[in-house]
Amino acid sequence: MNNFDYYNPTKILFGKDRLTELADHIVPDSKVLILYGGGSVKKFGTLEKVTQALSGRKLFEFGGIEPNPHYSTLMKAVQIVKEQDIDFLLAVGGGSVMDGTKFIALAARYEKNPEELLQFGFEHVPAKSAVPFGTVVTLPATGSEMNCGGVISHNGTKSPFFSSLVFPLFSFLDPTLTFSLPPKQVANGVVDTFIHTVEQYVTFPDEGRFQDRTAEGILQTLIEIGKKTIDNPTDYDARANLVWCATNALNGLIGAGVPQDWTTHMIGHELTAMFGIDHGHTLAILQPSIWTIRKEQKHDKLLQYAERVWGITEGTDDERIDQAIATTRSFFEELGLSTSLSSCGITEENIDDIIAALEKSGRTALSESGDLTLDISRKILEHAL
Ligand code: NZQ
Ligand code: ZN
Repeated sequence: MNNFDYYNPTKILFGKDRLTELADHIVPDSKVLILYGGGSVKKFGTLEKVTQALSGRKLFEFGGIEPNPHYSTLMKAVQIVKEQDIDFLLAVGGGSVMDGTKFIALAARYEKNPEELLQFGFEHVPAKSAVPFGTVVTLPATGSEMNCGGVISHNGTKSPFFSSLVFPLFSFLDPTLTFSLPPKQVANGVVDTFIHTVEQYVTFPDEGRFQDRTAEGILQTLIEIGKKTIDNPTDYDARANLVWCATNALNGLIGAGVPQDWTTHMIGHELTAMFGIDHGHTLAILQPSIWTIRKEQKHDKLLQYAERVWGITEGTDDERIDQAIATTRSFFEELGLSTSLSSCGITEENIDDIIAALEKSGRTALSESGDLTLDISRKILEHAL
């Protein structure tokens, strides 16, 4: 196990009917900007619950943060924060609204060009302060509610940014607020959580026993409740388990001190930027092919995954690994997500453009060991057709 720092200051308020406590967590005199997406929070009553809980406070609203939030949209909110002297942000929505709010929190206090914040990749940005913020989560998937990263669309690609200044102060996780999600978004959420977990687990053995067992627990929970929570959206316990898995898959816990491989996300981001495929769906398409092409490098962990997560113990090593990959693909498909590029209208002719986009974004040395070149990305994409 490698040395690591582990820091997570976000307070979690989990459970149904807790939004009435919202005012207790925001300083009384603050000017609060409530941020949301394309309108689901209005349609399903979450925004009303929030404004009721904060009645009597100085409230402002900014709606229209789109999925895969755009820099230009977020900069409009930055202007409001500056003009109105806003001192607290409240994100009400899914990963896009939470990530957008994190970016706004940093950009509003950044003295230089905020575009720079998107140039640091996995390194922390050199920001000195951020507007404090909290979140009310309506979509379990990204873990953004308890981590310090975000992903923003700009200049034809999606760029991550990180800063310890943008851990939410608090996050309300009320599973009932997610009951209104369409099945496709719940499936995206299950797969996003699954892939966050395997990208910190299916690498190479590194004696992170707690991290491995915790990752396996998250994966097995998703396998148990994934289909169930799509088919029975108001089954509270199934949804509550998805919500808590999503948060814990990407809050730093399972990735501390172990190798990580974000290949699936890095190629997936280009697919979303170029073809508009939902984030979770890109991951379902890519993961089986990435494991197939990277079988050798991931041999030991794929075998461990086969045995401990799916109970596959018969056959040669190769047969077990192939069975684990096939079973994973079937799991994603049973959730309702297709697992090929062609199912989204992407053909061999598009591959050159995807490779060019990866090159432009500097995604030329991916994987847990940095040895995944553009040629290997090409093989992965060809396999995923
Ligand atoms: O915009 P509205 O009208 O609110 O509708 C949204 C949106 O269309 C809808 N929705 C959300 N909650 C709902 C609901 N519909 C009905 N009922 C509800 N309760 O769902 C749609 C998708 O929302 P979005 O926020 O885009 O989805 P998700 O939470 O999957 O977030 C995806 C974004 O997060 C980034 C992705 O790249 C993508 O931009 N990620 C952020 C990460 C992080 N911060 O750590 C890590 C992830 O790997 C991911 O990259
Ligand atoms: Zn993700």
